[in-house]
Amino acid sequence: MAKKRALITGINGQDGSYLSELLLEQGYEVWGILRRNSVAETQTSRIQHLRERDLLRLEYGDMLDMASLVRVLKASRPDEIYNLAAQSHVRISFDQPIYTAESAGMGTLLLLEAFRLTCPGARFYQAGSSEMFGEPAESPQNERTPLNPVSPYGCAKTFAHHLARQYRQSYGLFISNGILFNHESPRRGENFVTAKVVIGALEIRHGLRRSLALGNLDARRDWGHAKDYVRAMWRMLQHAAPDDFVIATGQDRSVRELVEFVFARLGLGDWRPYITSDPRYLRPTEITHLRGDASKARTLLGWMPTIGFEQLLDEMIAHFEPIVAGRRR
Ligand code: GDD
Repeated sequence: MAKKRALITGINGQDGSYLSELLLEQGYEVWGILRRNSVAETQTSRIQHLRERDLLRLEYGDMLDMASLVRVLKASRPDEIYNLAAQSHVRISFDQPIYTAESAGMGTLLLLEAFRLTCPGARFYQAGSSEMFGEPAESPQNERTPLNPVSPYGCAKTFAHHLARQYRQSYGLFISNGILFNHESPRRGENFVTAKVVIGALEIRHGLRRSLALGNLDARRDWGHAKDYVRAMWRMLQHAAPDDFVIATGQDRSVRELVEFVFARLGLGDWRPYITSDPRYLRPTEITHLRGDASKARTLLGWMPTIGFEQLLDEMIAHFEPIVAGRRR
């Protein structure tokens, strides 16, 4: 049987790299779209190990350059398309709202349109976010919880989410929306709070800094492992019918609890003398509490998270420890 082909936008991100590994393990031919960038080596560090073994087909393209999307879709003739590309940092989306709306919102529309016109028989995964809920009216959140976004990123993802549903309904295309809660890993970007706290605490332990500045410590999030979450994306496209699915652990923790756990694990004792508050890391509108109910995914997809909060952070600490230690002179 011919190999299945998958095309991933955002292949060089945290999720793109884990999804590539999963699909390669399943015997797929994996194609990815890369934006041309002057700092090419940092851009592909998460997929370097796959590139070195020549396991990926990477093509230059851009979510806002529809001709490039059409070209790559025609060349790859994918069975499955995973749309993971976006400016994904919520705080930064307040500083760069237009770029965020273009990459996460308009870029999705261009890709949906290119997909409809070139390969409508393919299956399409749209990366939605719990950030779309805004300050939710109910807890935990499920697929029926109203969307009420409070950040440019949340608005852009909501636009993309609704378009994906509309394309599914209007044209009968196989498009599934994931509504993914926070998911982290050793490959997490350093300015997201889990990686920032792990790296900052390690730097304190190694004498590289005295304190760490954070924003809102009261915010509560439902943190899972990216490796588990890309498995959910794949399962959505293997399911008999397209649908929307919340992907979450169902457990929430505050940023304060995250800090407490990491500092205790590193034997730093009381974390309070080390943490300062900096308004730069606050958002004009913040979601105080997100917790997901993934029972639909459990029932229909047989999906369950396998890695909990503490195991996730232990893995991140073990990964960043030698890197931070190496920064010591
Ligand atoms: N980044 C960051 N930096 N966040 C901080 C800080 C800080 O110094 N201090 C407190 N926080 C709080 C944020 O205000 C937020 O409530 C929480 O920590 C998590 O922040 P992030 O790790 O930046 O993630 P996020 O929840 O804003 O967004 C992530 O999850 C979404 C799913 O809900 C991103 O991965 C999004 O792309 C994703 O869609």
